[in-house]
Amino acid sequence: MTTEALRERLLADLAAAGTPEAVEAVRVAALGRSGAVTALLKTLGGLAPEERLRVAPRYQALREELAAAIEAKKAALSEAALASRLEAERSDMSLPARPVPRGTIHPVSQVMDELAEIFADLGFAVAAGPEIETDWYNFTALNMPAEHPARAMHDTFYLAGEPAGRVLRTHTSPVQIRAMTGASPPLRIIAPGRVYRADSDATHTPMFHQVEGLVIDRDTHMGHLKWTLTTFVEAFFGVTGVALRLRPSFFPFTEPSVEVDVGCSWAGGRLAIGGGDSWLEILGAGMVHPKVIANCGLDPGQWQGFAFGCGIDRLAMLKYGLADLRAFFDADIRWLQHHGFGAHDVPSISAGFSA
Ligand code: DAH
Repeated sequence: MTTEALRERLLADLAAAGTPEAVEAVRVAALGRSGAVTALLKTLGGLAPEERLRVAPRYQALREELAAAIEAKKAALSEAALASRLEAERSDMSLPARPVPRGTIHPVSQVMDELAEIFADLGFAVAAGPEIETDWYNFTALNMPAEHPARAMHDTFYLAGEPAGRVLRTHTSPVQIRAMTGASPPLRIIAPGRVYRADSDATHTPMFHQVEGLVIDRDTHMGHLKWTLTTFVEAFFGVTGVALRLRPSFFPFTEPSVEVDVGCSWAGGRLAIGGGDSWLEILGAGMVHPKVIANCGLDPGQWQGFAFGCGIDRLAMLKYGLADLRAFFDADIRWLQHHGFGAHDVPSISAGFSA
């Protein structure tokens, strides 16, 4: 076969190759180790010098021409493949968005966000602690040494295994200890979170939510506590002129201790927070016990303050008129759709909290 005939045949094969694999086959047949053009080039060594001078440029030109044509064909094929993929995967941006199931913010999460927002405005930071606590943080440091009778009121879940003495925290009060230990007051924190007690009936679930509040400063007193709680209740329920009643009570970690009731009315069977002649208990509070302050390495002669602890689930029930606590934890999509909040309904002081 003449060089020209070989050239035409190979170019025709290349033109006919419709896939990258077919192009590769043409390359191997022409320029591979035992390809036709490679074989031609190999004959050069055996030719007489004049003959070699005469044919070598033609052979080399053929090799270069084919190599370039093969590269060009490969590029064209991959460009075409990309174009057809883009065509196939094209999406029509003018189509309406498909209706996706809408998730909602759980009322408990909503209330936690509201709390953070209200207390941030009063200069409180949000603190957190672990849900698996040690005996020290959950009890001992809070002035409940081993054998203290108040421990029995907590229906504690004790964890088996090592290390010993671990519990599921029964309240958010251990976060007080974590916030005070190693800290340099003044301190203002709230700590919302999950707590656990071995208790389950219509009004109790084994896991529920509390928010802890703690202020430590040099001359903080009960008046500050009452003002802070009144301001919180008014912002949270969106009412003014709220009456709070502080009843003497007992908690090992506060002295004095109080239970706090908020004035309300049940006119027409509907609960209204604020005025009225009824009272609703909403939280426990008091002045942080000097022993608790000392347990955290602070000098109770220098530092004092108040603390409070409040059930978040109940706050959500009162504010949003939710009757059944257990529904909070059923993960019933219909309940969540109905009582949940839109992801964009971010609570804020300026927009108000009374949805
Ligand atoms: N930890 C208490 C409980 O779970 C609530 C409580 C009462 C917290 C008084 C406080 C407080 O910080 O001062 O029953």
